[in-house]
Amino acid sequence: MVQTIVSAVLPDDYHRCVRCAKWLGTREKLEAHLTAVHSMTLEEYCGKHRKSIERSIGIVKGKNPTKEGFAQDSDVPKTPRSPGVKSRQKPKKITPFFPVRRSLDDAVVEYVPKVDPYFIVDKGLTADVVFALDNEMVLYMWGPKGTCKTHTLMQMAALSRIPVIRLNCRADMRSSHFIGRIAGRQGSTFWKDGVLPKAMKYGAWLLVDEVDIAPPHILNVLQAVMDSRVLTIEDTGGVVRAHKNFRIIFDANTSGAGDPSGQYHGTHPLNESFRDRVGMWVKTSHPTESFIKNLVTRKFPALPEEEVARVAQLASKVNAGSSTVSEQLSVSIRRVLAMAMYLDSGYSWRRTLEFAIYNNVADKYELRAFKEVVKSIGL
Ligand SMILES: Nc1ncnc2c1ncn2[C@@H]1O[C@H](COP(=O)(O)OP(=O)(O)O)[C@@H](O)[C@H]1O
Ligand SMILES: [Mg+2]
Repeated sequence: MVQTIVSAVLPDDYHRCVRCAKWLGTREKLEAHLTAVHSMTLEEYCGKHRKSIERSIGIVKGKNPTKEGFAQDSDVPKTPRSPGVKSRQKPKKITPFFPVRRSLDDAVVEYVPKVDPYFIVDKGLTADVVFALDNEMVLYMWGPKGTCKTHTLMQMAALSRIPVIRLNCRADMRSSHFIGRIAGRQGSTFWKDGVLPKAMKYGAWLLVDEVDIAPPHILNVLQAVMDSRVLTIEDTGGVVRAHKNFRIIFDANTSGAGDPSGQYHGTHPLNESFRDRVGMWVKTSHPTESFIKNLVTRKFPALPEEEVARVAQLASKVNAGSSTVSEQLSVSIRRVLAMAMYLDSGYSWRRTLEFAIYNNVADKYELRAFKEVVKSIGL
């Protein structure tokens, strides 16, 4: 039985390397590694940990091991795959959400985001975005960290080849970041458009990311455009009329009415007259267990199904409680992907949780609550 496993996993004409969490990624010949680090023979290890051996073995075809019995790092494929492990799924083709912008000037084309082949469509969320933007509304998308806000918008644009000018707000922003400024070159001055007139002329989406971080008063420069789609630039006297495809989208962790949780430091309540000009508010929430399973399976096809299921179960169980305990205790989609990456690289669950979650939790009570959930799913 053990021999069958060994030969199924390791064909004879292949040399064998291992990626090991305990050994922190060093690759070496398998038998030598098991004896030195795990004090086990190959047969004992195969009998005990069949799944992890399938996952962790890199196979190098047609190369001899070095004298010391170690394969060279450069000989090992970056993403080791072993026979029998499910192969990478072909991403499904997604129908664009808006009419595809085919002819775009070179200057504009560089603002079209790149398509992510792993993008998963959340039908409810994308339908709301389509409705708002088709109806020329100003859209404000908000929700906890890592709930697919920015990625969804960027991918919807990418699939329809829509340019997006993305501005990440900062506390020291000025209105000139939006409008533009007089700049100098070789002894003369010229007007340099800010992101607002640029997006209006290009027919781009202006994505104002983390809008609740911006000082509220400077957002007032957007109000006239939110009302009338026309911008008058005081410094030049110029008037810019928005291209028909221009849209304004805000993206933030709070609704702009304050942060009662106190977890999103640096955010401000926004001006009510500014907020009143938003056409649609979309609130995002943590992705479902099946969404997480789907994403992790696509991105890490070699990760065994039971590990994928555990990652998804852990995230959704913690997130279900996070609304009542603390948002800090939530597992964002970024944490999910980090966990999957560690596990896929052969890290144990203990190390995975340490690196991806535990080491960044400051509050010991929250840490305890998190560990209880971990225990409850048998980890
Ligand atoms: N719908 C999705 N399909 C695939 N990957 C996604 C999706 N949404 C988010 N992600 C992944 O999660 C990461 C964080 O998502 P993001 O939208 O930036 O979060 P936030 O809600 O904080 O803006 C993205 O960089 C991407 O890798
Ligand atoms: Mg974001």
